[in-house]
Amino acid sequence: METISADLAERDHLMSAEDEVEAHIESIVEKYAEYVNPGLARLLQFAGFGDLEETAEGCIVTTASGKKYLDFVGGFGVFSLGHRHPRVVEAVHRQLDKMPLSTRTFFNESAALLSERLAQLSPGDLQYTFYSNSGAEAVEAALKFARKATGRTEFLSTEGAYHGKTMGALAVTGREKYRAPFEPMVPGAKFAPFNDLGAMESLISDKTAAIIIEPVQGEGGIHVAAPGYLAGLRKLCDDHGALLIFDEVQSGMGRTGTLFACEQDGVAPDIMTLAKALGGGVMPIGATLYTPAIGAAVFGENPLLHTSTFGGNSLACAAGLAALQVIEDEHLAEKATLRGNQLLAGLRSVMSEMPEALVDVRGRGLMIGVEFAIKDIAELTINYMATHHGIIAAYTLNNPKVIRMEPPLVVTEAQVEEVIEAFRLSVASAVEILADL
Ligand SMILES: Cc1ncc(COP(=O)(O)O)c(C=O)c1O
Repeated sequence: METISADLAERDHLMSAEDEVEAHIESIVEKYAEYVNPGLARLLQFAGFGDLEETAEGCIVTTASGKKYLDFVGGFGVFSLGHRHPRVVEAVHRQLDKMPLSTRTFFNESAALLSERLAQLSPGDLQYTFYSNSGAEAVEAALKFARKATGRTEFLSTEGAYHGKTMGALAVTGREKYRAPFEPMVPGAKFAPFNDLGAMESLISDKTAAIIIEPVQGEGGIHVAAPGYLAGLRKLCDDHGALLIFDEVQSGMGRTGTLFACEQDGVAPDIMTLAKALGGGVMPIGATLYTPAIGAAVFGENPLLHTSTFGGNSLACAAGLAALQVIEDEHLAEKATLRGNQLLAGLRSVMSEMPEALVDVRGRGLMIGVEFAIKDIAELTINYMATHHGIIAAYTLNNPKVIRMEPPLVVTEAQVEEVIEAFRLSVASAVEILADL
């Protein structure tokens, strides 16, 4: 009798603890709807993410309700080292205990060391680094540097390109939906289809300051530069006195199988932008790398011509240095190729089973996209993967028919297998549900 009532009391206690957690999650969702962004709150709930993220480690995110999710979005390229990589966390802790931010009046050790390492590792003649706090800021700096260095104002970009949502970066972002509400744009941007060298050739002129391009288009739906395309762009720029900007904000830091995606094409840019994984998944950081010639043209007369208060802060640079070391020591670029090939093969086998739902699987390393015949199946698949299999997936911003797979590069063989099987089941369920409607 006593044990039964003790069991009941224990059950009531657990239930009330569960209710409490649920009420807490609900209250946070309500605050989002009331104070952050009501549309975003609806969107997250609809996609199957109506929970509260609480802790994360490696490839696993744990929510307030105690559920564990396998992260196959990886912060859209941020968590290449996994969540809270111990060596990055330790480096940031160490810096935090000494001096988190910079006075901006003295020299700063971690900024100097990170710039030196980036110059050593980056392709071609890239030598100097301008630091900021995000990808869009890194792109803004790249565009400004190109204008100042060439004395020209026009930019050529690609359809579907994503370079960020600040005014300059947005002007070269290749999706009308995001640009139109904010027109007039910064003038001078023109767009050619990705991988169409002839179209770019017909646009370039002696007014072109730079061509800006992602070596692997991310938000446009994961498109890999065709062999010879980047080399063709390099030649076009050289022939017309324009600069070549590679935006490696998403494709950089080992994700595609080499530290920078452009290395696989053997082409070096004049300016390269980095962000996302550069902070090791622990700190936000943006970086714009440029050549000595550009440095002289931009900062020769005024070293403060372009600045950022928090750019190059000690914490972010300490994280960046540790991240580069981890990528090298743990062979993360090589792992991206290995696990990427496994994932590509698995997803292609699912596509061959369901050709009516899936039209393409493409990518390089662990930057992979699956294109669906219609966006509704993609949306339902994302929801199913989250709610039934505990897997975080997302579509690409400029192409909702494409689900991206960008897990941390530390993902294991077994985790990749788990996702392939969950994807197979989720697509099948999505197709079935839509057929019943
Ligand atoms: C290639 C590329 N460039 C720039 C950006 C903008 O970066 P942020 O969101 O940090 O401003 C992104 C973001 O997804 C990106 O993928």
